[in-house]
Amino acid sequence: MSQLSGEILSKISQFGQVYFFDTIDSTQLTTRKLAKAISLNEHYGIQAIVIANQQTKGFGRFGRYWYSPRQGLYFSLLVNLVQDDTPLTLWTLYSAKVIADVLEKVSTVPMHLKWPNDIVFMDSNCDFYKVGGILTETFGRNTFITKSDKRIVIMGIGLNINQTDFPLDLPQATSLKLIRMKTKQINADFNLMEILYDILLTLSDSLISYRHQPKTEILQQIKHKSCVIGKRLKVSRRHKTINGTAIDIDEQGRLILRTEIGRIITIDAGEVFAIQ
Ligand code: BTN
Repeated sequence: MSQLSGEILSKISQFGQVYFFDTIDSTQLTTRKLAKAISLNEHYGIQAIVIANQQTKGFGRFGRYWYSPRQGLYFSLLVNLVQDDTPLTLWTLYSAKVIADVLEKVSTVPMHLKWPNDIVFMDSNCDFYKVGGILTETFGRNTFITKSDKRIVIMGIGLNINQTDFPLDLPQATSLKLIRMKTKQINADFNLMEILYDILLTLSDSLISYRHQPKTEILQQIKHKSCVIGKRLKVSRRHKTINGTAIDIDEQGRLILRTEIGRIITIDAGEVFAIQ
């Protein structure tokens, strides 16, 4: 992260303990270890932030590798969702929406959510290009609620910001810089640290409003940013592909599909890999 400065780091530390690395295997792995090692307070919200300039073993959902050269933003947040029992899928979708809003604001390029956790740019043909992804993990089988009601979540955020090329096996990947070059003919780099600060500021505020706002309103905001509703999709779920039209996202953050034979299917985890 080239624009790292003491000033920015100390500003970031208002959001929680900050751990910064130049090169690391994965901020997610480090945060998992940290979660066991540090004592967390009882407050709702972000507790620690682990940031790296680059990752050698960054990974995403389904254990897929996450391309992490210096030009991107990679960080994991240790979050205490004390006494919040809302479904994690909804919470993750909302966090993705907040991050997409920040990226949209700094780039002035429209960003969308691709259920369940991708931040994408969509062109006029409805082809989507992935700018970012979120990996939310809890401890234990389902959630991790300790005696003191803590519910500890690790949210790993990978954002393609200033990359100008990607490996051939990532044809859907793009960066904020590439999109802005294409759509606005602006070639300048983004300031990674400023984006990070903006995200943390917005996210910590939004997580407070998430607690107090009616979930129907939260869901409305998510749906407004989503690029899948009303579209014909191919969704992979547990090694199977389901074709159907996305008709809604429910209050738990699940995707509701109507298949080609009219059957309604509720999908709690999976991946959308084609939008028509
Ligand atoms: C996905 O789209 O599958 C989620 C990708 C999450 C990648 C981030 S980068 C920071 C953190 N460290 C990791 O190893 N993974 C997450």
